[in-house]
Amino acid sequence: MIYTLAIIKPDAMKKGFKENIRAEILDNGFKIAEEKTIHLTKEQAERFYAVHKDKPFFIELVEFMTSFESHIMKLEKENAVIEWRNLMGATDPNKADKGTIRSKFGTDISMNATHGSDSNENATIEINHFF
Ligand code: CMP
Repeated sequence: MIYTLAIIKPDAMKKGFKENIRAEILDNGFKIAEEKTIHLTKEQAERFYAVHKDKPFFIELVEFMTSFESHIMKLEKENAVIEWRNLMGATDPNKADKGTIRSKFGTDISMNATHGSDSNENATIEINHFF
């Protein structure tokens, strides 16, 4: 699978990190096959994160994802899902390896700068959600 879905989340967009994160993506050998900036609606955020609907942080997650614009990208590279997850680092920016995008641009486990698909199957579903 050569595609994955990436999102620059509202925290990073609000802080003006969009171009820094895009540059890191391109510097690491990804192509951005498609991209768009959108302000997610509640319905879109709830549908996108439906797998987390029973988690205690679901309401907080939807509120955060609808608080400002997000930049949505279809990334292309060999083994895109794993490569993008490695470049992002761990979900919690405070635990992410130094030099990773979440370590550099994230704040906490909720406002963690970026999203990436966790499997090839979900990458296909998530890409179809937005493009
Ligand atoms: P993401 O990779 O987009 O997938 C699900 C998101 O839920 C995750 O990044 C975080 O933004 C958020 N999340 C995961 N765990 C927690 C948590 N314990 N508290 C708040 N938000 C969380």
